[in-house]
Formats: sequence, structure tokens, C-alpha cells
Amino acid sequence: MAKKLIEYYDHLNSKGNYKAINWDQVSDEIDKSTWEKLTEQFWLDTRIPVSNDLKDWRTLDDDHQWVVGHIFGGLTLLDTLQSQDGLAAIRKHVITPHENAVLNNIQFMESVHAKSYSTIFETLNTPEQIDEIFDWSDSEEFLQFKAKKIFNIYHSDTIDPLKQKIANVFLETYLFYSGFYTPLYYLGHNKLANVAEIIKLILRDESVHGTYIGYKFQIGYNKLREADPKAADDLKDWMFNFLYELYDNEEKYVHMVYDQVGWSDDVLTFTRYNANKALMNLGQDPMFPDTAEDVNPIVMNGISTATANHDFFSQVGNGYRLGQVEPMKDSDYDY
Ligand SMILES: [Fe+2]
Ligand SMILES: [Fe+2]
Repeated sequence: MAKKLIEYYDHLNSKGNYKAINWDQVSDEIDKSTWEKLTEQFWLDTRIPVSNDLKDWRTLDDDHQWVVGHIFGGLTLLDTLQSQDGLAAIRKHVITPHENAVLNNIQFMESVHAKSYSTIFETLNTPEQIDEIFDWSDSEEFLQFKAKKIFNIYHSDTIDPLKQKIANVFLETYLFYSGFYTPLYYLGHNKLANVAEIIKLILRDESVHGTYIGYKFQIGYNKLREADPKAADDLKDWMFNFLYELYDNEEKYVHMVYDQVGWSDDVLTFTRYNANKALMNLGQDPMFPDTAEDVNPIVMNGISTATANHDFFSQVGNGYRLGQVEPMKDSDYDY
């Protein structure tokens, strides 16, 4: 840990003066390619006319409207956590100055995401419903459980920084997907097209975020494995136990939100499938037996029209699992 800080504070020169970031001297090419990818795909919610979806929205019954409004309330809460706490925690332990710049971009986009989710329900719902959704997300037991668990990891001064990266990737690539199920389901049914447009843009961002932070985790984890295999095993145990603990809570959250429309089993399959993706980002083997074939094909159809998210995961994830870390090429990000 201390060593990491010393490496980073290499940007102080031998006289102790502060050094400017130099993009012509990049020690990790993945910082540069990620920066280029993220800045190329920059977007803002104000470009997407969500109000054009009001016609579709009015065809949904009360239960389905409730689900749509509240999953976006939940997603707003979780990306508020990412934007306010998540990236700030990760940024304390960067190795390169370019990594810092990439994390600044990610942090800002998490604010765009949080604003976008609330734009959706603030456009579709009535003022009373909007207030109720915010009250719900600020107090709902199972939603708050995941937010507080991860918040506490982000704010611990004594925790291994690698655990903060694990928490970040679990949130990005795993815990959001019980919410993403709904817009992808409607996308697969050609409904709520503008809402889907926002979700497509967010998924495109999240696939890069999860892969990048997972990659930075793997650098630290591989060093730890070389230096202290027992400590690496303990960290791996912690990771899988944490994933189980979050899954236990996620089951309760999903039933509470989705039982009324009968989608809970399908949403949980999708959640397990994405938990495996999160583990892949962290260079680990999958834990659940669920594969793409098990996920509701309408939702997979939605996700495949959204992004080639999963090609991206498999290309990069498999490479890292084999321990062959190579600089990311532009084609790794092709959608
Ligand atoms: Fe996000
Ligand atoms: Fe993200």
C-alpha cells in the first residue's frame, strides 16, 4: 500500500516539485486507450426525448408502471453512490497519473447516469409518484443494504484497496442488472424506445468501466499472488463470500420489486449471469451455472441490439484470465 503511494508520488520529481501529467509518456497503454474510448463515446441525457415514450408508458398497467418507476429510483441511488463515493475511493490508490484522468471521466459519467435514470421517471411519472420514488429509494431495506455495504467499503481507511475495486466492479457489472432487466425487456418488445436509448448508452459506458477497474484490480491481485499466495487466497475467499452475501440480498430485492409482475425468476437468472461477468472482469472463474442461453431471449435480444457488451467482456476477460495482459486495441471496444 505504502509502496503504491510512493510509486504514484513518482510524479513528484527528485526536488519534490509537482510534475505535470504527460500523455506522450504513458506507462500503461490501457489508460490511454480507455481514455480515448470513453471520451469518444461521451453523451448527455438531454439529447434523448424521453417524453416520446409517454404513449407506450400509458399502455402499461399500474403494476408494470410501478416496476419501471422504482427500478429507475433504485438505479439513481446506486449511481449516486458511484459518482459521489465510488470513484473517489478508487482514485486514492492509483498507480499512474493517467489512471487518475480516466477515473475523473468515469466519475463524471456516473453523475450523468444518475441524472439520466431520474430523468426517465421524472418524465413518465406524476409529481406525487416522483416524490414517492425518491422516498422509497432513500429508505427501501434491500436497496439500502447494498448501497450501505458498498459505501462502508469505499469509506474504510483500513480496508485493502483491492476490496474497494471488487466492490466497484460488483456494483457496476452485477448489482445494476436487476434494474437493467426492465428497460431491456421493453426494448426486446419494441416499447419505451427512448428509455432504451439511454440504457444502451449507459451499458456501453458500464462495460468499459467494469473492464477497466477489473483490469486494474488484476494488476494488484497478480502482484499479491506472487508476493503472498496465502493473502491472495484469503482475498479470493472474501470476494466470493461477498458475492454470495450480495446475492442473498439481491434475491430479496428482486422478489420485492418483481413478484407483482411475475418476472422474478427471469431477473434472478439475469443477475447470476451478470455476477459471472463481474467475476470475469476480476479475472476469476464464474460462480453460477447460468449462461447466455439461460437468460430470457427477449432480454438477450435487447442487450445484443444495445451493445456488443458481451463480446467486449469475453475478449478482454478471457485474455486476462489466461494471464496474458496485453495492451487493449481499439478493436477490443468495437460494438
Ligand atoms: Fe453508471
Ligand atoms: Fe460505471
